[in-house]
Amino acid sequence: MSAAFHEDKDIDLGPIAGRRIAVLGFGAQGRAHALNLRDSGQDVVVGLRAGSASAEVCRQHGLEPVSLEQAAESELVVMLIPDPEQAAVYENILASRMKKHSALIFAHGYNIHYRRIVPRPDLDVLLVAPLGIGEQVRLQYEAGLGVPALVGVHQDASGQARALAFAYAKLNGHGRAAVLETTFAEETETDLFAEQAVLCGGIDHLVTSAFETLTEAGYSPDIAYFCCLHEVKLMADMLHRRGIVGTRRSISVAAEFGDYTRGPRVINEASRAAMQDLLAEIRDGRFADELDAEIAAGSPLIRRRRAAAESHEIEKVGARLRARMPWLQKKHNP
Ligand SMILES: NC(=O)c1ccc[n+]([C@@H]2O[C@H](COP(=O)([O-])OP(=O)(O)OC[C@H]3O[C@@H](n4cnc5c(N)ncnc54)[C@H](OP(=O)(O)O)[C@@H]3O)[C@@H](O)[C@H]2O)c1
Repeated sequence: MSAAFHEDKDIDLGPIAGRRIAVLGFGAQGRAHALNLRDSGQDVVVGLRAGSASAEVCRQHGLEPVSLEQAAESELVVMLIPDPEQAAVYENILASRMKKHSALIFAHGYNIHYRRIVPRPDLDVLLVAPLGIGEQVRLQYEAGLGVPALVGVHQDASGQARALAFAYAKLNGHGRAAVLETTFAEETETDLFAEQAVLCGGIDHLVTSAFETLTEAGYSPDIAYFCCLHEVKLMADMLHRRGIVGTRRSISVAAEFGDYTRGPRVINEASRAAMQDLLAEIRDGRFADELDAEIAAGSPLIRRRRAAAESHEIEKVGARLRARMPWLQKKHNP
């Protein structure tokens, strides 16, 4: 079933007008949302923990931070701190301070879906999940555009939860692109699956394995870097704009023939079976339990893998090549 596609013209800002929104955190998403909401004319405060490293950055952007305790008393409170930190902040600060019928907003359904947070029943609990990283949420807004977002409702204590979710999405620039309605479960499970199979796990391992195959066969690491990593952006941009068939119209006949005949030798039934396993672990909560155990143990696997990745040849070659191409860091590079 296809999801209804909402845009600015379909969304009424009435339900959110005049309400103070407290954004908790001033990191990737927090900074983008706080600045977008402010620039959309909304009354915004940023809630930060005592001694926060983000306080100065927040002031530099013209917003004076308040304590998490003060922020909790706003009519809408947006959880934009890292997912593993959210349950403690809810339990220790928000649960006893949030006003009846105020709204708790999430940018990812994880903690609600896996019941790491069980909010008070008198609160509205909403999802406004940008389909893009925080940097893009702000950059696109500044350019007069927006990134698409998913909205959903977990609890509707006030009777206005759905209207508030759409209105928030509009203030944050998402209605300029597309706002699709979903559930916390669907957003969480599809988001985790896409991260693991495609956007992070899939692409990172595909690129690294291809780089290693070329360099082990004696090809120049610089050339391997350009072919296997740098060019990903060019293909991704085309896929984004034109889809798979449209992209194939722009590639050579050798590339198209290789796509049909060689692609399935890399991504095949075994990969499909692995994807089904990933999805099953996400759906039955095994992935979330494993992640909790990893974090509780001080993230030993994550630390080990980060260190290994930092010393990998693709990283050293990449750092050297990127330093010679400062234009890559421009907001809109080709
Ligand atoms: N990253 C993305 O682009 C992205 C995309 C879609 C959805 N999301 C969702 O957006 C939410 C926020 O993620 P994020 O990546 O934007 O987070 P983030 O950048 O890692 O958040 C950093 C901010 O959270 C604050 N913070 C960290 N731990 C805290 C604690 N225990 N108490 C109070 N403040 C704390 C930090 O304050 P200090 O300066 O004091 O450390 C900083 O201001 C998550 O639910 C995530 O799933 C993120």
